[in-house]
Amino acid sequence: MASTVASSWSFAFDAAETFEKKCSSCHSIGGGDDVGPDLKGVTERRDSKWLIRFIQESQTIIQSGDPVAVELFNKFRQKKMPDNDLAEAEVLQLLEFIKAGGAPTKTSENKSALKATPNDVELGKNLFSGSMRLSKGGPSCVSCHTAGQLQYLGGGSLGPDLTQAYSNYNDTGLSKVLTKITFPTMAEIYAAKPLTNDEVFQIKAFLYSVDKTGPVTAGYQKKFLFLGILGLFVGLGVIDFSWRSRRRKSSRPTAGGKS
Ligand code: HEC
Ligand code: HEC
Repeated sequence: MASTVASSWSFAFDAAETFEKKCSSCHSIGGGDDVGPDLKGVTERRDSKWLIRFIQESQTIIQSGDPVAVELFNKFRQKKMPDNDLAEAEVLQLLEFIKAGGAPTKTSENKSALKATPNDVELGKNLFSGSMRLSKGGPSCVSCHTAGQLQYLGGGSLGPDLTQAYSNYNDTGLSKVLTKITFPTMAEIYAAKPLTNDEVFQIKAFLYSVDKTGPVTAGYQKKFLFLGILGLFVGLGVIDFSWRSRRRKSSRPTAGGKS
């Protein structure tokens, strides 16, 4: 076996991904027997040399008459487990993964926004603002919500401003409400078009970044409020001015007519 070659690149080996792709269709870890046996505790009930070989080439071992392998084979209705072209070091990592109980549910489901990369935040912003479509076809959040400075780019106002949603719901809370959406106005719309786990994570990351930069946004808001008030005064001034000048104009002929 080319174990030297394999071990030199095995640092890039992803046990969780391999298990998901190559093993999970027949095995669970703690979820009961499937096509193949439940692998929970397998590293305790079998010797690791045996496990490595079995995972690499189970049929060869069964055909060699190994009593444990033959018994398993018969118990699982002589269903053949495919051979795996994996190096010993890789199988050991898989076994570590199995020993640790497997993946903690799915990839990004419970990932904290604190772990988000700038790229996640950017993706979340794009999903929120609709410049990137939600994969299941749900409407973009911006059609009903604003958040942070998006407010000035024309967010909708049917739903509340979400600038502080991250603080209000906290990290896991926000994931929960976006995974299983129960807000009355949103529930029906998103029931058939839910957000994926990745989308929930990315939008959460965006809302976190918006919340974190809250004070800056407040300054921005004040500036706009100031400009708004200034505009209001200017507007009133103009109206007042034109009204007065019209009155002056209209009063002149009246006065002239009288004299
Ligand atoms: C097509 C279904 C299938 C796939 C895919 C599969 N297995 Fe299996 N596995 C089985 C079956 C069935 C058995 C029971 C023995 C037999 O029938 O060969 C088994 C047995 C085992 C055993 C022995 C369990 C025990 O209780 O001693 C281990 C360990 C194992 N598989 C690990 C893996 C790993 C790791 C992968 C992925 C790299 C994998 N299997 C992929 C079907 C599968
Ligand atoms: C059709 C309009 C609409 C769309 C689209 C929409 N929402 Fe909402 N959302 C609402 C309304 C309205 C509420 C207030 C509760 C209610 O009436 O359902 C709300 C409430 C919320 C809340 C709770 C806010 C609070 O202050 O308690 C969050 C968080 C939220 N929405 C996030 C999102 C995200 C993220 C998206 C995009 C994936 C989205 N919403 C898309 C209308 C919408």
